[in-house]
Amino acid sequence: MRQRFLVYMVVVVVFFGVDFLGFCNGGKLVKNFYKESCPNSEQIVRDITWKHVASKSSLPAKLLRMHFHDCFVRGCDASILLDSTASKKKTEKTAIPNLSLDGFDVIEEIKSHLEETCPGVVSCADIIALAARDSVSFQSKTSLWKVLTGRRDGKISLASEVLANIPFPTSNFATLKKDFEKKSLTVHDLVVLSGGHTIGVGHCNLFSKRLYNFTGNGDADPSLDAEYAAFLKTKCLNLSDNTTIVEVDRDSSLSFDNHYFKQLKLNQGLFQSDAALQTDNEAANIVEDLGASSDKFFTEFAQSMKRMGAIGVLTGSSGEIRKKCNAVNS
Ligand code: HEM
Ligand SMILES: *[C@@H]1O[C@H](CO)[C@@H](O)[C@H](O)[C@H]1NC(C)=O
Ligand SMILES: *[C@@H]1O[C@H](CO)[C@@H](O)[C@H](O)[C@H]1NC(C)=O
Ligand SMILES: *[C@@H]1O[C@H](CO)[C@@H](O)[C@H](O)[C@H]1NC(C)=O
Ligand SMILES: *[C@@H]1O[C@H](CO)[C@@H](O)[C@H](O)[C@H]1NC(C)=O
Repeated sequence: MRQRFLVYMVVVVVFFGVDFLGFCNGGKLVKNFYKESCPNSEQIVRDITWKHVASKSSLPAKLLRMHFHDCFVRGCDASILLDSTASKKKTEKTAIPNLSLDGFDVIEEIKSHLEETCPGVVSCADIIALAARDSVSFQSKTSLWKVLTGRRDGKISLASEVLANIPFPTSNFATLKKDFEKKSLTVHDLVVLSGGHTIGVGHCNLFSKRLYNFTGNGDADPSLDAEYAAFLKTKCLNLSDNTTIVEVDRDSSLSFDNHYFKQLKLNQGLFQSDAALQTDNEAANIVEDLGASSDKFFTEFAQSMKRMGAIGVLTGSSGEIRKKCNAVNS
């Protein structure tokens, strides 16, 4: 009897605990949340995003990574957008992994248009999620994944919380798995979402140890393809170069496709965290599947983005709808 009660309690706690934290798939987010309150909002986000991508091809990678960093720290609540102030001290954007985050001006431009059309209605957190999707979709001119909406904006942003939540490019598989588990994401999500690295660039100093001093003996990472390592050495001349950038997905960093997974199979993943996906059987099988079928990659990416986009969201009357994305309402 007592045992049965305990089992019951565990079920209740797990079930409601998960729901409380908003970790359920989509949580309380819905399709087209602004249908009545701001009918043109999704169109406005798309138009402005596309206008910018048309003249800046690096933007999709910036916005996709911004969405990831927003969601992994305090949930998808636009905490990544807040500027430090005298009273707010150091916010997330000032932390080291913010290196090369960009696209803040585009989010702010979208926000100011939306404030003209429907003041106080559309959250900055939803704008990031929509703009990330739309920017990546510019190339194919179709929405690559569905974005549920209804997120609200958080009031807290702390640089000190970033390192504990954003995965390191030097992490091994076990660590990455834990980083994602903390966000209720699976190994499957980890592999699929790492596919975000099919676009964009990385700075030399974040992987150059793999080229020049992997174990401290002036050696290279043996798991890195030798020809690729030689190529990277022509770009990154020494261990301290923190300004040169290279494509994360070799020769394909502007097209959103499954090429990243093919490169992993050739031992040409740029970061240790990319190569790590080949060191676990379950993950390597997923890499294999995604590399073999771009349809599969697009389908799976859409599903995992839905889960990532729901991490710790504020809904209902939690948080607020900011007037400007870089500051909380006073
Ligand atoms: C699995 C753990 C992950 C690690 C360790 C990681 C690490 C990194 C690092 C170190 C960079 C280079 C930043 C720079 O040098 O400027 C980068 C770039 C990028 N990451 Fe990740 N990342 C991870 C997961 C993700 C996820 C889940 C997404 C999105 C779905 C993502 C999207 C991107 C994009 C688009 C870029 C290129 C940014 C640009 O071009 O400026 N990453 N990542
Ligand atoms: C990122 O952090 C550095 C300090 O580590 C800061 O100088 C820089 O302005 C930050 N970038 C953004 C976009 O806020
Ligand atoms: C390589 O790593 C070792 C051990 O960490 C360090 O002592 C050495 O100075 C490094 N070499 C270079 C060129 O930085
Ligand atoms: C390392 O490379 C960078 C970029 O090529 C260069 O500016 C810098 O002087 C080099 N540093 C050393 C210590 O060789
Ligand atoms: C790059 O390295 C130089 C020299 O070590 C340092 O002064 C500078 O702050 C670094 N820049 C970034 C963006 O980390």
